[in-house]
Formats: sequence, structure tokens, C-alpha cells
Amino acid sequence: MSEIRKVGVIGCGLMGRGIAQVSAASGYPTVVREVNDGLLEAGLGAIRKQLDRGVEKGKLEAADRDATLERLSGTVSLEDLTDCDIIVEAIVEDIEVKKDLFGALDRQCPDGTIFASNTSSLTVTEIAASTNRPDRFVGLHFFNPVPVMKLVEVVRTGATSSATFDRAFAFARSLGKVPIACMDNSGFVVNRLLVPYMLDAIRAYEEGIGSIEDIDTGMKLGCGYPMGPFILGDFVGLDTLYFIAEIMFEEYREKRFAPPPLLKRMYLAGYHGRKTGKGFYDYSGEEPVVSKFVTK
Ligand code: 3HC
Repeated sequence: MSEIRKVGVIGCGLMGRGIAQVSAASGYPTVVREVNDGLLEAGLGAIRKQLDRGVEKGKLEAADRDATLERLSGTVSLEDLTDCDIIVEAIVEDIEVKKDLFGALDRQCPDGTIFASNTSSLTVTEIAASTNRPDRFVGLHFFNPVPVMKLVEVVRTGATSSATFDRAFAFARSLGKVPIACMDNSGFVVNRLLVPYMLDAIRAYEEGIGSIEDIDTGMKLGCGYPMGPFILGDFVGLDTLYFIAEIMFEEYREKRFAPPPLLKRMYLAGYHGRKTGKGFYDYSGEEPVVSKFVTK
């Protein structure tokens, strides 16, 4: 099994920056690419802030923070990823954009480079088919917040070679994560179970079974979940949840994956959760309060 010496990450948004941080912290020279300098600087700045917070809390040595940052570089040029042994893509969930990106990478990278997509719901098989190396293509699905969540789903398509799967699995483990093997079905393991649960919580609310806060408290304290389904929906992003649900409904054609009307309206109205400051909860004050959009 050939060694992974250098890691490329494409996208320095919420997921990409977490993956780049974890990769550099695990000892890999890591280069992360964004489409422009503004987005790149925002992503790298967030990583620095995260690492500084670790030092302030006494969870990370200042020397380790500095070494991590030294291993991390940013670029706006795809060519700077040519010598990476594995490239993990974490860009917008748009199949055509991903296919174009991997088509370009396929033309420029050596045969040995493994390609991985962090897609949460698109078909890895379809993205891999845009390259001439579907045997060296996997899904590597991380969870938000990446530095904290231990799981990585390693997704094998019908075309993925065993050697590639094993390398990607070992790579995920070398990041300090716990990898699990998944088939390339929409949602893999976690979203296949989590998304219908979150959608069902919205339906339960629409049916008047409980208030937003009571349903959240119920699942938090009754099941020991770190967050109730509505707080979690706001955390994941209601735009993301809506898109994933649409894709999963399209794949399985089962009602349990269909986005409820309320979710669609919140998405359309710009209530995307924490990232827009309002979702099921309003985040403009000290503590989140249930948003007026859902109580009227
Ligand atoms: N980035 C990095 N680190 C973060 C963070 C962030 N956004 N938010 C919190 N943390 C770290 C904190 O620094 C802290 O680290 P420390 O213990 O070393 O100091 C640790 O997480 C705990 O944070 P807090 O004490 O502030 O807060 P909580 O104890 O409430 O934990 C949480 C926050 C880890 C987010 C916890 O609430 C949780 O696990 N929530 C569920 C998250 C979840 O389910 N994620 C999966 C979403 S689904 C998904 O990603 C798939 C996608 O395809 C949709």
C-alpha cells in the first residue's frame, strides 16, 4: 500500500476547513484550495482561530498549533494539488460542478492519486464516472464539526478497487477518526437514518404533538442526544437538510424522505438555521428562542 505523503482539500468552507485542519494536525502536509482569496482567507482564519482557542483552553500546545499551521497552505490554483496523494473534495453539493472539478483534476494528477468526495447525498458513482479512475475514487464523508466528530463514512462504489478502499480507510484512521464502510446509496448509513428522523420531527410538530422546544428537550433528555432535532437542523443548515431530503426522496421515492412543506417554506424564506441567524430558532439574542416563523 503506497504511503500518503501529501493531502489536498478542495473547499475551505465549514467542512473543507475542518478536514484541512484535521489533516494538518495529523502530520500531513496539506494544501487547501478555494475559488478566491477572500474565501480562502476566511477559511484559513477560522482554522487559526479554532487552533488558538485550543491553546487558550489548554487542550493544545502552542508548538503543536504552530506545527499544524506550518503544514497547512492555501491556494486558489488547482495545479497546486497535482502532487497530492489523496484529494478530498468538500465543495457545493452540485453534481455538475463536482463532475467538472474532478474531470480537471483527473487530467492533471498522476495515476496514483486517490480522489475522494465528502458529498453527503449525491451519488459517488456518478461523480467518479466523470474521471478515468473510478477504481481510485471513494466517498469520505465527515461530520460537522469535523475536528470534534469521530466518524468518517468510507464509501465504496461498485468500481472502487479494494486497494483504494483500504488506503482511504487507513487514511481516515490516521486522522484519528473511526471509519465505517458504506455502500454508495444516497445518505450512506448516517443520513439514511438521521434525515428521516429530522423530517419526522417536523411532521410531529406540524401535527401538534409537541412544541419545538418540547420535542428538542424530549429527544435530548429522553435519548441522551447532544442536540434535539430542531437545534440540530439549524446546526446542519435547513438549506442543506432540504437539499439532502430532495435528493434522497428522488433516489428512494419513499414518503419518509420527502421534505415537509414547512421545511420547504423555511428554506425559501431564507431561514437556513444558524448560518443565517434564524431557523427553527432565532439566534439574534443571548440565547436561542423559537423563531416567529414557526409559531405564527
Ligand atoms: N468546530 C470545532 N470545534 C467545536 C465546534 C465547532 N464548530 N463546536 C464545538 N466544538 C468543540 C469545542 O471547542 C469543545 O472542544 P473541547 O471539549 O476540546 O473544549 C467541544 O466541541 C464541545 O463543545 P462545547 O462544550 O462548546 O459544546 P457542546 O458540549 O454542546 O458540544 C457539539 C457541541 C460537539 C456540536 C455537540 O452539541 C454535538 O455533538 N452535537 C451534535 C452534532 C452532530 O450531530 N453532528 C452531525 C451532524 S450531521 C452531519 O454533519 C452530516 C451532514 O452530511 C449533514
